[in-house]
Amino acid sequence: MTFDPKTFDFKQLPKMGLGVGLDIHDTQPNIPNVLRLNNGHFDYLEFYTSNRTSMTDHVKQMVDSNLPLLYHNEILDVCCPIDGLEEAQSMVVEYVKVLNAKWCIEEAAFRSVGDKRCDFMIPALLTEESLKTTIENLQFIQSHFPCPVFLENPPFQFVYGGIHIVDFMSRLAQELDTAFVLDLGHLWSYQVAAGLPWDANLDNLASDRIIEIHVAGGTWMEKNGVQAYIDSHGHDNGVIFEETYRYLDYMLPRTKNLKGVTYEAEGTPDDVLLQNLVDLRARCQSFLEVKA
Ligand SMILES: [Fe+2]
Repeated sequence: MTFDPKTFDFKQLPKMGLGVGLDIHDTQPNIPNVLRLNNGHFDYLEFYTSNRTSMTDHVKQMVDSNLPLLYHNEILDVCCPIDGLEEAQSMVVEYVKVLNAKWCIEEAAFRSVGDKRCDFMIPALLTEESLKTTIENLQFIQSHFPCPVFLENPPFQFVYGGIHIVDFMSRLAQELDTAFVLDLGHLWSYQVAAGLPWDANLDNLASDRIIEIHVAGGTWMEKNGVQAYIDSHGHDNGVIFEETYRYLDYMLPRTKNLKGVTYEAEGTPDDVLLQNLVDLRARCQSFLEVKA
């Protein structure tokens, strides 16, 4: 079926279930091991290519596995005005076609500052101007893509601008009549960076537009009395904080158009990954047992 952004309705997308998110350039977890592990522990794969659209052996193995794939992109700088958007996105479009990805995820963030390209992600500036730019960029990107593109709330260690991230993501999705990806650790990182309680402003969340939830491990950083939640995924032994599970329990009954819960596992040792998948499957039972 050909994707047409004009007639597209995110509610019609297939239910994906519980997935694993991986970076194909990581050696841990080992991708062939993860594919062997499958055996009912996960239903789809979402992967990142560290800013490169490369067809490595591991990508080929994922394509050949016949598991449904989602592609997590980090190239398009969707939250700032950029030259060369057409060129950058045409590269991603070709890649997504080869993968036959059900949809593509892009962080609400940017990496380019003027001519310089940072090797870290800068979260969206939470201003009206930035929101308008993001909406225009996403509209342009979506009109040229062979599958839906959904933005994900980014991780924060500092906050610039007065729009709460919940309002930023909800307004963006409402304006374009689309959905978005909610990363639970990223949401917590925003609340911590903004000095807010864990559940601040959640009543404003457009929860019926959440298509996918991300769950991942993290760690705490404290310097000069300032605390930050660091979205380290599996690189701190894959520990998923209780607060992340608390968000998950809060969100699952409220997200009626949710299609997938992705456990972002890069860096996680294989045995921890397996245990976290077992725990998540049990935790998500109410979502997983409902037919699409
Ligand atoms: Fe994420």
